[in-house]
Amino acid sequence: MLTLGIETSCDETSCSILEGSDIIKSNIVSSSLFQHQPFGGVVPEIASRHCLEQIDFVFNQALKQAKVKAEDIELIAVTQGPGLIGSLLVGVCFAKALSYQLGVPLVAVNHLEAHLEAAFISNDGKFIDKAKSRPEKYIGLLVSGGHTSLTYHDSTRMTMLGQTVDDAVGEAYDKTAKILGLGYPGGPILDRLAKEGNKDLVKFTNPKLKNRFDFSFSGVKTAVLYYVRDRERKITLEEKAQMDKDVAASFQSDVVDWLVRKALDAAEYKKVSDIVVGGGVSANSALREALMKRGEKAGVNAWFPHLSLTGDNAAMIARRGYDCFKQGKTAGLELSGNPNLQVA
Ligand code: KG4
Ligand code: ZN
Repeated sequence: MLTLGIETSCDETSCSILEGSDIIKSNIVSSSLFQHQPFGGVVPEIASRHCLEQIDFVFNQALKQAKVKAEDIELIAVTQGPGLIGSLLVGVCFAKALSYQLGVPLVAVNHLEAHLEAAFISNDGKFIDKAKSRPEKYIGLLVSGGHTSLTYHDSTRMTMLGQTVDDAVGEAYDKTAKILGLGYPGGPILDRLAKEGNKDLVKFTNPKLKNRFDFSFSGVKTAVLYYVRDRERKITLEEKAQMDKDVAASFQSDVVDWLVRKALDAAEYKKVSDIVVGGGVSANSALREALMKRGEKAGVNAWFPHLSLTGDNAAMIARRGYDCFKQGKTAGLELSGNPNLQVA
């Protein structure tokens, strides 16, 4: 079966052709990232205009690279939410028009659920070499720019165990980099700098929360702000460069430790031996290393998407859409984008 995936939930416009459940024939991603950089974050109007300008081209590129014609498509999967309404509407309207024109079924996909499918298309975890051996029960750790959550998955459904009570982990990376004046998006920049810094320079406190599987990241950002503000004016440029590295290393070491600790705790609590990670922050080198190492000690397999599938992309939407279709979930032409869509 050939599935067309369409993803336009934020600043990326992506179309993918997926064969069956996990053969990516094409996965084209056009990003408007550089247009947002001067503003230090995503500007919704710029993002949706970019999606509108790009969707037709990206769709045609996806067909071309997959060497298929529009008439070969048998299923259309589109991101329904959560995300920015202007961007979401571009993908949803395009998908509906195409579904009507081609007479093929349409499936609405939850962007967050799709992120947690990316590892099953192409697993980067070290302990399982067969991407097809999907575990029946597992813990999902979603780490993106807008969301952070721990979920429990079995063959029928996913259940929320905990989520962030304030900032998402990607947001904490972005805000910390902004405080240091390092640019946007902050995740990849801090990940790189952290490798050259001293992780013991600053210790951040992990706030005690009522639900042990919830997260809180806004305190770290404030702690960085105070630390930097007190020093910045008194130091040379060279010292500032070293401070950036040390703050990045300290921030990353603590944040990764919290994520890994809670994910392993959730795996023990639910008595499962697999943790599946998804979302932009799943590209983080320290998170990958720590979860794989500490997971191995605890007898837990860590599943990570291939680096090309950690960010927003339509292959994961097609994959999730394919599974939803197999479960009989299709959408009608009344479908609309839902910026606040919750996990099922
Ligand atoms: O999943 P995503 O592409 O978009 C959302 O759906 O939110 O995630 C984007 C987030 C940004 O906050 C970015 O800073 C973060 O992922 N990110 C990283 C890394 N690469 C991207 N965070 C930490 N380390 C990285 N290597
Ligand atoms: Zn995303």
